[in-house]
Amino acid sequence: MRLRNIKGADEAVLKSPWCIQSPEAQKGSWQAYFGNQHPIHLEIGMGKGQFIMALAARHPELNYIGIERYTSVLLRALQKMDPIDAPANLRFLCTDAKSLADIFGSGEVERIYLNFSDPWPKDRHAKRRLTSGAFLERYRQILAPGGQLEFKTDNKKLFEFSLEEIPAAGWHVVVHTFDLHRDAALNAGNIMTEYEEKFSAMGNPICKLIACP
Ligand SMILES: C[S@@+](CC[C@H](N)C(=O)[O-])C[C@H]1O[C@@H](n2cnc3c(N)ncnc32)[C@H](O)[C@@H]1O
Repeated sequence: MRLRNIKGADEAVLKSPWCIQSPEAQKGSWQAYFGNQHPIHLEIGMGKGQFIMALAARHPELNYIGIERYTSVLLRALQKMDPIDAPANLRFLCTDAKSLADIFGSGEVERIYLNFSDPWPKDRHAKRRLTSGAFLERYRQILAPGGQLEFKTDNKKLFEFSLEEIPAAGWHVVVHTFDLHRDAALNAGNIMTEYEEKFSAMGNPICKLIACP
């Protein structure tokens, strides 16, 4: 995502009632934080939040945490939150996904969404890809038994890399498609992200996979 530093973004994130400060303090007690026993779902690299905000509205029976590492991007999601009627099942975290295991306890998360993750095309940056073995190991530490990873991208190289990396890390790819919008079964109930809208409008097919550790 092209990043413009927005003045006041750090402060807005720091003061926002929807952003979790000191998330490490909630490790192991996220359901208590939400005040219910509902499963916890994460979106990592949520960008401006279109996907997770729509998902949270659709599923009040689930708790959602959107993770974004840049305040200038997260600010755009905060600006879309309705101050009078903000969803009780949605909160945001401004952090790098590298720290997931410091924030969530073992088995505390039921599902992780990755949408249009940065491709990091250079080989020497492969470890930064959110579907690299190093990140899969972090996800494994926090996912519950039967938990799932859902990944969408229009970047065929990143998708092919992921289709190799996931089984190599001992995970199982349950299902995948190279053209989500033409796959009636997998596309049912699909919520488009900002990037998905942009790239599919340009004619790029959207790839999707679902995997389990
Ligand atoms: C290309 S954008 C996609 C945004 C959104 N998911 C969508 O599909 O429209 C990727 C986002 O992931 C965030 N991101 C990348 N690596 C991250 C990491 N390690 N931890 C948290 N966020 C990350 C970036 O800052 C960026 O906002």
